[in-house]
Amino acid sequence: MLIAKTIAEVRAAVAKLRGDKKCIGLVPTMGALHEGHLSLVRAAKAHCSAVVVTIFVNPTQFGPKEDFAKYPRTLDADCALLEKEAVDVVFGPDAAEIYPPGASAVVEVAGISDRLDGVSRPGHFVGVATVVAKLFNIVQPDHAFFGQKDAAQVAVLRRMVRDLHFNLELIVCPIVREPDGVAMSSRNRYLSADERQQALVLHRALRRVEAEIAAGVVESQPLIDAGFAVLADEPEIRVDYFSIVDPNTLEDVPDVTAGALVAVAAAVGLTRLIDNVLIPPR
Ligand code: PAJ
Repeated sequence: MLIAKTIAEVRAAVAKLRGDKKCIGLVPTMGALHEGHLSLVRAAKAHCSAVVVTIFVNPTQFGPKEDFAKYPRTLDADCALLEKEAVDVVFGPDAAEIYPPGASAVVEVAGISDRLDGVSRPGHFVGVATVVAKLFNIVQPDHAFFGQKDAAQVAVLRRMVRDLHFNLELIVCPIVREPDGVAMSSRNRYLSADERQQALVLHRALRRVEAEIAAGVVESQPLIDAGFAVLADEPEIRVDYFSIVDPNTLEDVPDVTAGALVAVAAAVGLTRLIDNVLIPPR
């Protein structure tokens, strides 16, 4: 497994793989890898004959009061995990490699970027779209793999790929959960034992909504009310949103008949967690 630090190194490695007629799969991450990330790597291995994983804690997607400085950085452990998965190339650049002095171009997916997480994290999705566009241009993969865990990110990136004609296919993989249902996240390691217990309520609220839909409820408002009723079991968490939206536009939908994304974000202690479930069309 090659560990590349510079754009020139990763481009040379990818050119060699292309020369060998490999199909290139890209898995962008911020590291602190867990089974959720590894599920993307395994999907990439299954779809593609060569896999590039990027590990870059992207400063531009963190707000000034967010956890950029304390975000976990575990490069050696991450590389050991990726080696076991037989990844071909790891790209772990410094910030100055990705954002050279004076870099001012950004990618803004207007509209979608201001919904769901974009409301309480202004600028977040411009940072995400910009860095992912850079990684796409650097690696030029055939397929790129993302997790449904970050459903709003998926909507933003799908739109970016479509609107800017990136010549690749996005592949979205299901949410990997802990045995008790909590969605895996690099941020779960911030949680105290009490908070970890409180975090269970996000998944419970989503499951309640799924159960209500299975029982025949289709209007969004009573479903949202049911979700909030479950979230009220844990009065210490601060709910950011509990929304039922179109998974492509992230706009509220009045009912789930045509399929919908039920998404929740909440602060548990100082840690912001997100989770969601996709409701298929009825
Ligand atoms: P990060 O949070 O490290 O996540 C990298 C990828 O792993 C994302 O596509 C995310 O959706 C996926 N992922 C995380 N937890 C998951 C889980 N429990 N199940 C399935 N997939 C999961 O998302 C980012 O990094 C960044 O925004 C990035 C796209 C790398 C741009 O900086």
